[in-house]
Amino acid sequence: MNEKILKSPFRNLFVGVDTFIPLSNGRWERAINFDNAATTPPLWSSLYEIINFSPWYSSIHRGTGYKSQFSSTLYEKCRSIIGNFVDADEKKDTIIFVKNTTEAINKLSYRLCGEKKVVLSTYMEHHSNDLPWRSHYDIDYIQVNESGKLSLEDLRNKLEKYKNKVALVTITGASNVTGYKNPIHEIAKLSHLYGAKILVDGAQLIPHAPFSMKGSHPLENIDYVVFSAHKMYAPFGSGVLIGPKDTFEKGSPEYPGGGTVDMVTHDFIKWGLPPSKEESGTPNLMGVIALAAAIQTLSQIGMDHIEKYERSLIRYTLKQLKNIPYIKIYGDADYEERISIVSFNMEKIPHNLLAYILSCEAGIAVRNGCFCAQPYIQNLLGLSKEDIEKRIKDPFILHPGMVRISFGLYNDYDEIDVLIDMLKKISKNRDLYIKKYKDFLTSI
Ligand code: ALA
Repeated sequence: MNEKILKSPFRNLFVGVDTFIPLSNGRWERAINFDNAATTPPLWSSLYEIINFSPWYSSIHRGTGYKSQFSSTLYEKCRSIIGNFVDADEKKDTIIFVKNTTEAINKLSYRLCGEKKVVLSTYMEHHSNDLPWRSHYDIDYIQVNESGKLSLEDLRNKLEKYKNKVALVTITGASNVTGYKNPIHEIAKLSHLYGAKILVDGAQLIPHAPFSMKGSHPLENIDYVVFSAHKMYAPFGSGVLIGPKDTFEKGSPEYPGGGTVDMVTHDFIKWGLPPSKEESGTPNLMGVIALAAAIQTLSQIGMDHIEKYERSLIRYTLKQLKNIPYIKIYGDADYEERISIVSFNMEKIPHNLLAYILSCEAGIAVRNGCFCAQPYIQNLLGLSKEDIEKRIKDPFILHPGMVRISFGLYNDYDEIDVLIDMLKKISKNRDLYIKKYKDFLTSI
């Protein structure tokens, strides 16, 4: 059976999917967004929720007026909706609203205390799940194999090597470069057997596939999870950090201020309880409402259904991409345990030029460069230490990188056809396109 249907059945749920943009030849075309791993357009349901609620907007946990009480109740209701979506433990966990995944990981890096001083990150992380840990912990990285998949053997070796000194194994749920999904519950079990906790960076996984903090055994449960609303169709500045309350009960918040305290005198502070202690200042209620609304819409569609649809988009893409001359796909194109992301290069055409041509000639937005995951990209590109040192010394050398496409559930097969046709055309006429866009190359 041909599973190809031209239009996404979910397309009408999204804002801005029919925006026309100018191409370099002056024609206007419907914009194609294949950069959903970076950020996603809003769902209409998120936008409507904000608009409908706006007449009732008032301060949270700071007023006795009717609107203030209504706003406070709604804020807490959103916390439950979001917690339920990922199966957080209502009794044990706290759900803290932040501005995005990066802030959430930084917050945890400040608040995770204890005797154990080692954090195990991985070779496939985004910088936000690497850099925050470097200043507070001794960090080591779990290796990936030649196709970029995480080595569970290396995880086991490192847990063994550091014995009981590992405070945390911190790992992405899915790679923003290759799209690989990690076996998070298996990793949780292994980490727990060695007395370490686990953080899952859910920024790429949670909007695209079913996710639960609970495994099929308590050892498989996820201790901490973080994710961003702007990658799940609610781009209004909110993000989430979920983890055991006791992590946040001790010590002081990194941003002390309004809302964080129980009692204060000029020479004494008694901190409040989490989550308020961790949400200093007036919270981003609109952002949180938008996220809860997006979650409700995604849940109504069903995360299984979403994963299935997006997987069929990426399968359809990979099947054709593999056959285009001069295209090199990074990672294992036949691996099915993935979200809908693929990164590639075209021989002879620099990644920045290829991305520029796609935009100018066909109105296709992709991301190019390192996707904030430089060590993983360097590894996949097979760069040597000398190559990297050369680039560090000479900032005029083009940053090593790739072109990435990442789908959302509003993307269509016919949009993919436009991309594939365009890539075929470029591949067939590489010299011609290089000549046409020589000014772009000399301008950077
Ligand atoms: N998370 C951002 C992306 O992958 C950096 O585009």
